[in-house]
Amino acid sequence: MDTKTVYLNGEYLPLNEAKVSVLDRGFLFGDGIYEVIPAYSGRLFRLQEHLERLENSLDSIRLANPHSREQWSQILQPLLTTDQDQYIYLQITRGVAPKRDHAFPNPTVPTVFAMSSPIVPLPNLEQGVKAMTVKDNRWGHCNIKAITLLANILQRQAAVDQGCAEAILVKEDYVTEGAASNIFVVLDGVLITPPKGPEILPGITRDLILEIAETNAISFCEDIIAFEALKSASEIWLTSSTREIIPVVNLDGADIADGKPGPLWHKMNQLYQAFKKAQ
Ligand code: PDD
Repeated sequence: MDTKTVYLNGEYLPLNEAKVSVLDRGFLFGDGIYEVIPAYSGRLFRLQEHLERLENSLDSIRLANPHSREQWSQILQPLLTTDQDQYIYLQITRGVAPKRDHAFPNPTVPTVFAMSSPIVPLPNLEQGVKAMTVKDNRWGHCNIKAITLLANILQRQAAVDQGCAEAILVKEDYVTEGAASNIFVVLDGVLITPPKGPEILPGITRDLILEIAETNAISFCEDIIAFEALKSASEIWLTSSTREIIPVVNLDGADIADGKPGPLWHKMNQLYQAFKKAQ
């Protein structure tokens, strides 16, 4: 049994002793939000950006933030070790209510849970991955990092069933993001990612890539990516805090360009790794 230390409602406990009630609204309704925060050599990466998104998610679901930024940092730090790259999974639900009722309980006492796990780099990253397109049938608030992930789970599994690493989500005739990642494409030498809005999660990795592009004079824009354009892209990348920047080399069974990660991916990945090391 896994006995790593986790955080639950003010206590640090072995994982197998951390228990929540079956009346927790996270369990009954998926009524909660989460964050995934990478940590390199024991240092949380882009913590302020993750905490800002956490605040936005909490505001959107009308759940009061139980802690200040300083307190969050103090809560998470003991879960980290310096000898491996890890990520923190942090979840806040609307807590336990005496009976199952859709409306908010009054008073609300949130359930706060956090744990760390090793970041396992994707094997053979340099060879790229396969992806497939799947209909984006999620709800209208994908900017909230909600724990309610049933649509994303079914989308990712549909891709895994076809031997793919990720599902790329298509709404009507344009691309939104991956089931658990943001998307970038290279079209006519320009790096493009969809604009922020309710149809995508505002990825922290996404924002950093745009920042790196800007400081390194890499031409980029935030624009709608038509499904047709996706098929003719010279590069496709998927980005997230746990997988960083993944090059897609095959989409729906057809190779992207020559079926190898492209030159801009190599450049951006190097810049991204250098940025991490400099933190
Ligand atoms: N997912 N879009 C979706 C739907 C996501 O679930 C994620 C991350 C991203 C990328 O966001 P970021 O760069 O901030 O990690 C985009 C996390 C890793 C997860 O659910 O495990």
